[in-house]
Amino acid sequence: MDKQEIIQLLQSKGEERTQLLKKSREVKEKVVGNKVYFRGLIEFSNICSKDCLYCGIRKSNTNVIRYSATDNEILEACRFAWETRFASVVLQSGEISSPEFVKRVDYLLKEIKQLSNNELGITLSCGEQSRETYLRWFESGAHRFLLRIESSNRDLYYKIHPKNNNHSFEKRLEALLFLKETGYQVGTGVMIGLPFQTYKDLADDLLFLKKLDIDMCGMGPYIEHEDTPLYEYRNLLMSKQKRFDLALNMIAVLRLLMPDINIAAATALQAIDPAGREKALAVGANIIMPNLTPVGYREEYQLYEDKPCLDEDKELCRNCLEARIELSGCEIGYDEWGDSKHFIKRNGK
Ligand code: 5AD
Ligand code: FES
Repeated sequence: MDKQEIIQLLQSKGEERTQLLKKSREVKEKVVGNKVYFRGLIEFSNICSKDCLYCGIRKSNTNVIRYSATDNEILEACRFAWETRFASVVLQSGEISSPEFVKRVDYLLKEIKQLSNNELGITLSCGEQSRETYLRWFESGAHRFLLRIESSNRDLYYKIHPKNNNHSFEKRLEALLFLKETGYQVGTGVMIGLPFQTYKDLADDLLFLKKLDIDMCGMGPYIEHEDTPLYEYRNLLMSKQKRFDLALNMIAVLRLLMPDINIAAATALQAIDPAGREKALAVGANIIMPNLTPVGYREEYQLYEDKPCLDEDKELCRNCLEARIELSGCEIGYDEWGDSKHFIKRNGK
């Protein structure tokens, strides 16, 4: 597929779009199967050293009460994931790279491995770190890492991030390369429907993911947040429904471009459409991240408005997702890591 074709598919409507979504589902079922894998998400701290212009937990947002879950809370959430046969967890936080933080994550990784007989898979989503830190965490048991590029267009990247050394596009790219070199299964992705973003940008994003040869992708609609600088440009945005539809088109085209990767049904989809994540599963996604963050903290981890599941405790979230996934005609891969087939091939295993 060349860029022009991708642009056309991303803009498709009516019958052309129906065909795109159908084709994507077929490719998904044929290549990665009909199973959906769970990654229990633990948003363990909202303390962040960065100031991304779109993000509700950016450092300068003083309306957020900062928290860091206790070791016990984090380990309890992991135990729940293990006991309910989720097979994997994702530890996500704001971006901090102090030695204490690095050490704490390292400690948690070892504890999680221990409490689960080495069975629980661990994905980290803790931002840009040094090569040494990535290696240390890898050696302590993390085997997947999520770090979104947010936009592969450098100019657009700097429209949605402050222009300073702490938000360098080049460093983000370098971090992705470090992660690959270290041996992680690497996931990245972009936000869809950002102000100033064009269809060409999105087509380039997809080609970027292909070129980087990623193993996993998480991408969802951009959703404005009142307490962020980007809110000022909300009148430039397409409607939420359009952003949602475009996000599904992006997932579908990516599935055609990279048939054997893992694609997450992003939670942000559900901030627009109550059945958003299931709709993504019905198209090309095969990963879902049930929220296991202790309920008392969820209010303070709102990267965007209308984030779903703020009050549902983990048991409720699980029941609710089980029912939803069955409705979407997919099966849940309990007890299975569901590693990216792309990664397995890439490593010649
Ligand atoms: N809208 C949608 N997604 C957002 N993220 C952060 N802020 C927003 C927003 N306002 C996404 C970013 C980040 C991920 C954890 O959440 O892509 O990488
Ligand atoms: Fe925290 Fe961007 S505001 S990483």
